[in-house]
Formats: sequence, C-alpha cells, structure tokens
Amino acid sequence: MSGARHPVFVDVDTGVDDAMALVYLFASPEADLVGIASTAGNVGVHDVCRNNLALLELCGITGVPVSRGSETPLVAPLRTAEDTHGPEGMGYARLRVPRTELTGYDAAQAWVRAAHAHPGELIGIATGPLTNLALALRAEPALPRLLKRLVIMGGAFDYRGNTTPVAEWNTHVDPESAAEVFAAWTLSGAEHLPIVLGLNLTEHAVMTPELLGRLAEAAGSTPAGSTPAGSSSTPMSALDPRGTASTASNPLIRVLEDAMRFYFEFHHDQGEGYLAHLHDPLAAAVALDTTLVRYRPAPVDVELTGTLTRGMTIADWSGHWGRQPNALIGTEVDPAAFFDRFIARVGRFARQLDHS
Ligand code: RIB
Ligand code: CA
Repeated sequence: MSGARHPVFVDVDTGVDDAMALVYLFASPEADLVGIASTAGNVGVHDVCRNNLALLELCGITGVPVSRGSETPLVAPLRTAEDTHGPEGMGYARLRVPRTELTGYDAAQAWVRAAHAHPGELIGIATGPLTNLALALRAEPALPRLLKRLVIMGGAFDYRGNTTPVAEWNTHVDPESAAEVFAAWTLSGAEHLPIVLGLNLTEHAVMTPELLGRLAEAAGSTPAGSTPAGSSSTPMSALDPRGTASTASNPLIRVLEDAMRFYFEFHHDQGEGYLAHLHDPLAAAVALDTTLVRYRPAPVDVELTGTLTRGMTIADWSGHWGRQPNALIGTEVDPAAFFDRFIARVGRFARQLDHS
C-alpha cells in the first residue's frame, strides 16, 4: 500500500494470535485503527473485551473504540478454547485490568458505524467467528459495498480442519454466521470479494521459539530465557518447566512471550511440535498488503446440517453449483516474507514502547 493511512476495523476473539494481530496493526503506520469488535470464540466475550482494552493500554494506544459482541453464536451454543489460548485467552500472560470503557453500542453496530463513517474506504478484518459481522450485515445489507476490503481468517479449503476432521475453529463455532456472510457477498454487487484465508494458507505461518527470539532482538529486549544478569540465553523450548515466565526486559515482548509459550505448549501436546500458527497476524498483514498472498476466486459455502461435516467450508472450484464466485481464497504465501515484516514492525514498535 502507498504511504497513505487507511481506516481499519478489526473483529477479534482475542486469543493469543488475535493479540499478535492487534499488535501488528498497532505497529503498522498505514493502519488507522478506527474500531475493535469483541467476538466470543477463543474465550467468552467478557474476556475478549478485557483483553482488547488491556492490550490497547499496554501498548499506549488511545482513542480506539472497543465494542462488545454477542454472548453467543447466531444459533449454536458458545464453544470456547481455553485449552488452546489459556484460561483468559492470553496464554500465561497476565494483563493489567483495563481502566478504559467499552462503547455504549454493540459490535454489530460498531461495524456499521465504521463503514458509514468511511464509505468505500474501510478495510475490515475478521479473525474470530463471524457472529457480529453477520449481525452487522443484517442491520446494513449495503455493508459489502461500503467496505473497501474484507479479510476473513476462517475455513479450510481442500484441507483438514483443526476443530473437527473437516472444520476450522472460527467457522465451526458459528457456521450459520459464516454462511450468512458468504451469502451476503453473493448477492451484493460489491466491487471486491472478501479475501478468505483458511488453514490451508495460515498454517504456513509457523511461529517458532527462534523466530520469537528474533522478535525480542528486534525490540532490543533480552529474550525469554535470559538470566536476570542478561547473560547469554536460549530460546524457549519444550524442555522448559511448563509456564516458565518470560524475563524479557521489554514489557510488550514479555506479554507476547508468556502468551506464545502457552500456545507452543498446546501445539506440542497435540503432537504438532513446539510451535504455533500465526493465523490472525497473517490476516492482518494481508489486509494491509494483499500482495503477500496469491488467490483463486471461487463460490464458497458452509455445511450447516452435516452430522460429521457441520462447519466445513466448501469451495466449488469446478462450477458444479453454477454460482458466481463470492470469495478470493488464499492459496499461496511466502512465510519468510511475512515473518520478516512482522518482526521488523512489531520489533520496532516494542522498542519504542520501551523508551516511552
Ligand atoms: O482456526 C484458527 C482461528 O481460530 C484463529 O483465529 C484462532 O485465533 C482461533 O480463533
Ligand atoms: Ca482468532
């Protein structure tokens, strides 16, 4: 994107990787963050709201309205993922109780207010269940035409699920909302299709202790495993006692390391390795620079009634349904290019925080 700033609205279920996505947006000069919608997902909506407000305060960001979303998905009962993201959604990190307040309007209204305030210019990002975006579309059917761009982290295309054998977390928590969102773009006449980044793409963004060490270095911080004397240190490892607190000197790096350690331990326990997928930060980076990823357009829909397949996202690549494409599906990414940018931006941002 050019040097200009662009209004950005983000809908998150903060969560560890949502927090990393928020920090990436805070660290990106071209992002004019005009609002945050808190969606129930990884943890309950109260915890998501608190995490969003607390992260803004930790990072010294003021004037960004945070709105509370629905307590539950459109139809299904709420399912949360404390096993993955920690009891309060931030892994082992403990954030100060925020002093700032939520808006007096809900997350769906926040989407609509932001789109009306920035018609044709607003970049929308959704990295949690699509509950509040679906409610916003019900309230304002013109939303697809009002948004300049929409990037959704969700689904899995010709790829296994992470919540059921075929369903990805965000779409599985609220399949009805995902179906309504995709349907809205089918009939909208919008100039741009939503960019949809499924697990098939985002699982290439693999965060490792070594990359996290590079982030600490970029922030001018001593890393996780450094001794108080700041002598030589080793990156986090599965051999560390569970929940080892970060001793990083930089306050933001400390929070991110404590959050990521829980996420690393979860993936390690799943047999995937001591690593974590940065699904949501990749979505944030693509929202600001769509050239990071390659795409294919396709008609997309969501299974709602399958006993074994509910929440599955399906792309009709071959035109069996006779429908027009309603999504641009991310198919290829250069993970190194993404991590270089993530580390450079968040490292620089964290370093500035340390001196503020
Ligand atoms: O499946 C990955 C997605 O589910 C990410 O957005 C993660 O934060 C969880 O919400
Ligand atoms: Ca998320």
